[in-house]
Amino acid sequence: MAGALELKKGVYAVGALDPDLPEFDEALTPYGTTYNSYLVVDEQVTLIDFVRANFAAELLENIASIIGDRLIDNIIVNHCEPDHSGALPAIVKAYPAAQLYGTANAQKALAAYYPDSTYTFNVVGEGDKLDTGELTFHFIPMPMVHWPDSMSSYLPARKILFSNDALGQHIGSGERIDTEVAKEKLMDCAQNYYANIVMPWGMQVTKLLGQVAQIEVDMVCPSHGVVLTTFLPDIIAAYARWASGATDGHQVTIVYDSMWGSTAEIAEKLREEYEASKHHVNVFSLADTHYSVVIGDLIESRYIFVGSSTRYNHMLPSVAGFLSYLEGLKPKDRVGLAFGAYGWSGESVDDIAAALSSMGFEMKDPIKVQWRMAPEHN
Ligand code: FEO
Repeated sequence: MAGALELKKGVYAVGALDPDLPEFDEALTPYGTTYNSYLVVDEQVTLIDFVRANFAAELLENIASIIGDRLIDNIIVNHCEPDHSGALPAIVKAYPAAQLYGTANAQKALAAYYPDSTYTFNVVGEGDKLDTGELTFHFIPMPMVHWPDSMSSYLPARKILFSNDALGQHIGSGERIDTEVAKEKLMDCAQNYYANIVMPWGMQVTKLLGQVAQIEVDMVCPSHGVVLTTFLPDIIAAYARWASGATDGHQVTIVYDSMWGSTAEIAEKLREEYEASKHHVNVFSLADTHYSVVIGDLIESRYIFVGSSTRYNHMLPSVAGFLSYLEGLKPKDRVGLAFGAYGWSGESVDDIAAALSSMGFEMKDPIKVQWRMAPEHN
């Protein structure tokens, strides 16, 4: 249990740690995650986001540890995905007079998710504000970062942006502030999170970063992971780069699965060739690497090479699953290569090439090998 933590005057983290969570939205979470919720105590009390349903009791306990018997006046719903809204039924039951604030899309989704809950919902949009006494929240809708309803909330008097899924990381290992985490771990987790969750929405992220550049912010409170302070400029710069679609022209990601090792030999041959020409190459076997780990690497790679054996006229299911996952993330401006070994038909290479080509990849000549590469190539 995380317990409540004061971040700035009257602003508290009251969410929950989920350190043993194995995966989130299909991506591995080796450090678990957090469901961050924040409480701002002013003349009125405002809760920002809930937590996952099974952590509702912990959220209620953390809130009570700050305000005792006082009531919550306002609840800002930055996002309706159940990792943030799951505790809504418990919270509106405990604080039935609280007014909810969120986008029109959030209102619709919450009505569908929680038809048995009763609450008052106020639709807000760009430029709308909420006065709570001394403090005022400014609402900044950010559709598709991560869902259509997504929104961030800005508290200028404290220079805090409550960014919801934007600028998050799946770090649930107990640290609360970025200065408690080794910078390398923080940046790796932010990269993995961006690649697996936010990658399709570069244009929307760029727009949000432009809005953030216009306001004074020295603390970002995301909905997952640690609060950003000292390393905020580094995370902002990294997001700007990822959102732009820029890649490292010397980085190669090779990903494959192999039935009897022949496709693995082609992968190693490609590694040798590209390392010899001064490329940085990372090779992943899907037999022992989750595809979300590969995605975390390839967001920086200009070159993405994919290989599979042919099994009964098809690529291996692990590779088909990887390509389906990759297609949804919409990587841009990449160079692809399909490779694989086969026994008697060899469709996998053609099918991989077609899949990468349909994603807009510029394709290199495929490598298709029957049985095994000849010794001089091996
Ligand atoms: Fe953290 Fe889109 O939910």
